[in-house]
Amino acid sequence: MADLRMVRVSKSYGQQEVLQALDLVIPEGEFVVLVGPSGCGKSTLLRMIAGLEEITDGEVFISGKKCNDTPPQKRNIAMVFQSYALFPHLNVRENIAYGPKLRGEDAAAIDRKIGWAAEILNLSPYLDRFPKQLSGGQRQRVAMGRAIVREPSLFLYDEPLSNLDAQLRVQMRTEIKALHNKVGTTSIYVTHDQIEAMTLADRIVVMNAGRIEQIGTPLDLFDKPETVFVAKFIGSPSMNMMPATCTDGMLVLDSGAGSVPVPASYKVAEAGKVLVGIRPEHLDIVPSGGFAFDANIVEQTGTDTYVYGSIGGIDSTVMFRERTAIEDGSSLNVMPRTGHLHLFDVATGGRLPEINA
Ligand SMILES: Nc1ncnc2c1ncn2[C@@H]1O[C@H](COP(=O)(O)OP(=O)(O)O)[C@@H](O)[C@H]1O
Ligand SMILES: [Mg+2]
Repeated sequence: MADLRMVRVSKSYGQQEVLQALDLVIPEGEFVVLVGPSGCGKSTLLRMIAGLEEITDGEVFISGKKCNDTPPQKRNIAMVFQSYALFPHLNVRENIAYGPKLRGEDAAAIDRKIGWAAEILNLSPYLDRFPKQLSGGQRQRVAMGRAIVREPSLFLYDEPLSNLDAQLRVQMRTEIKALHNKVGTTSIYVTHDQIEAMTLADRIVVMNAGRIEQIGTPLDLFDKPETVFVAKFIGSPSMNMMPATCTDGMLVLDSGAGSVPVPASYKVAEAGKVLVGIRPEHLDIVPSGGFAFDANIVEQTGTDTYVYGSIGGIDSTVMFRERTAIEDGSSLNVMPRTGHLHLFDVATGGRLPEINA
């Protein structure tokens, strides 16, 4: 196993800088998820760690050794992609054994490894099947089997589940987590799916336009997003966000759709402009006061009720755990639950400091 350290790592393609001076330390055994919108540089970063992409500036250390110029095959890294290239003419056993055979390992050792990998990945009943006789999820497991028999010191995953249907994605997600719990190899997992990030990660790295926005545990990011970007990216449906001005201890929405007291944990200057963030599940219906919410569409999932609408012309969502009788087109008053408002700086998008945080 390995730990990874990146110091001011940058990447440019010609004039275009796609990664800007990233610093990241991943201790041995950790499962880290890189998450961010498409094009923010996740794959590029992963490929630089694997040695498939040149590092423009900065340093990458694996197990304390600088490896900027180490070729990929000398890094002992396994990479799992969304398209998994299995050999169609080889059965599962032969696909998994391919690498060890190529390296000239002896037959008994290879057999042991296949047994071990098949056990961990629940592939034992399928060892004699060919790829075309397997489901998408089983093929993905074979691809992971090929990776783990190499006993890599680092696992890199680049959106490995994005080709699978929704149900299988959830199942494979659990299996990847289970695999990590059993094998414990340091892992870096790239996805644009924040739910995947939340459920898999020991720590999440949120990326935006070639920079790191925030690093933290899933619940850190959810409870204390450091920027508006993280606040909107983590959590589904997204956090509601509205500009407001502090007047006489109240946060008055600039849209005129209502006001709420400045939370005790924040200090906001009189006439200070802020962005007020509130998650859909932290708004309660009240008879009057709070914010005026115009409901457009009500969605019942059976478990939850989502109401999509607007607060003072800004698209907003309210979510209820219990069933409600709200109808499309109705007008409500909603009040943020105490302790759940998030305040951000209008200019920088950074979270405002809290007094007891
Ligand atoms: N080989 C390349 N040459 C030029 N630009 C590239 C190359 N590979 C990636 N890029 C650019 O780098 C940025 C980051 O890409 P990528 O790392 O693939 O993003 P992500 O994986 O987060 O979707 C994008 O703007 C992309 O167009
Ligand atoms: Mg990518």
